[in-house]
Amino acid sequence: MTGERNPASIRRMRADDLDMVLAWRNAPSVRSMMFNPDIIERTQHQSWFEQTSLAVRRALLIVAWEDEPLGFVQFDGVEPGGVSDWGFYARPGAPRGSGRILGRTALDHGFGALQLHKICGRAIAFNTASIRLHARLGFQQEGLLREQHRIDGVHHSVLCFGLLRHEWQATGNEHPQNPFPQSEERAK
Ligand SMILES: CC(C)(COP(=O)(O)OP(=O)(O)OC[C@H]1O[C@@H](n2cnc3c(N)ncnc32)[C@H](O)[C@@H]1OP(=O)(O)O)[C@@H](O)C(=O)NCCC(=O)NCCS
Repeated sequence: MTGERNPASIRRMRADDLDMVLAWRNAPSVRSMMFNPDIIERTQHQSWFEQTSLAVRRALLIVAWEDEPLGFVQFDGVEPGGVSDWGFYARPGAPRGSGRILGRTALDHGFGALQLHKICGRAIAFNTASIRLHARLGFQQEGLLREQHRIDGVHHSVLCFGLLRHEWQATGNEHPQNPFPQSEERAK
């Protein structure tokens, strides 16, 4: 450890994040990748937050980089040794590399503070960024649910991913440091 402050941070989502998170969730680039691509109304969003933020086994989280919110992550099934499904989205327009920071920071928290045993993710087959991100973070593909999810009359396959605590510890991804210089290079 160098003792330098880690620019990536994670905290509980608060009521004053509601409008920001709703704007992210309803942005076309995010909504189009969700299992439910409908626009979420403010009242619906508010009641979702009121119910889930109080649930003991749920964690609604905001990841930030240099105190700038970078994205939203949620875990369910939260308990020591638990098996959790996660979901996430980056702030629309966030620089490339944001997904990696979001993922690493959240997994570090999930396997660290939340003491999870396993984290599972699911992505619709057309969601290349999420599929690549899961692979990059060390997830194994554990299943392919063929033509499982229907959107506008079209059936899409769903990929299932899983990452075990010891696999995460072996990736060297713990305690994420700055991936932006490389990704900003890539974006030029
Ligand atoms: C998924 C998401 C968080 C990734 O964020 P990001 O900032 O684009 O991610 P990164 O720049 O760190 O890239 C992660 C990987 O995805 C790839 N990628 C990113 N955008 C891509 C795109 N539009 N098409 C194809 N691949 C893409 C990157 O090349 C990288 O792969 P690599 O490591 O093999 O090079 C973001 O796209 C997002 O919020 N999407 C909408 C919501 C969503 O899909 N959530 C997940 C639901 S399962």
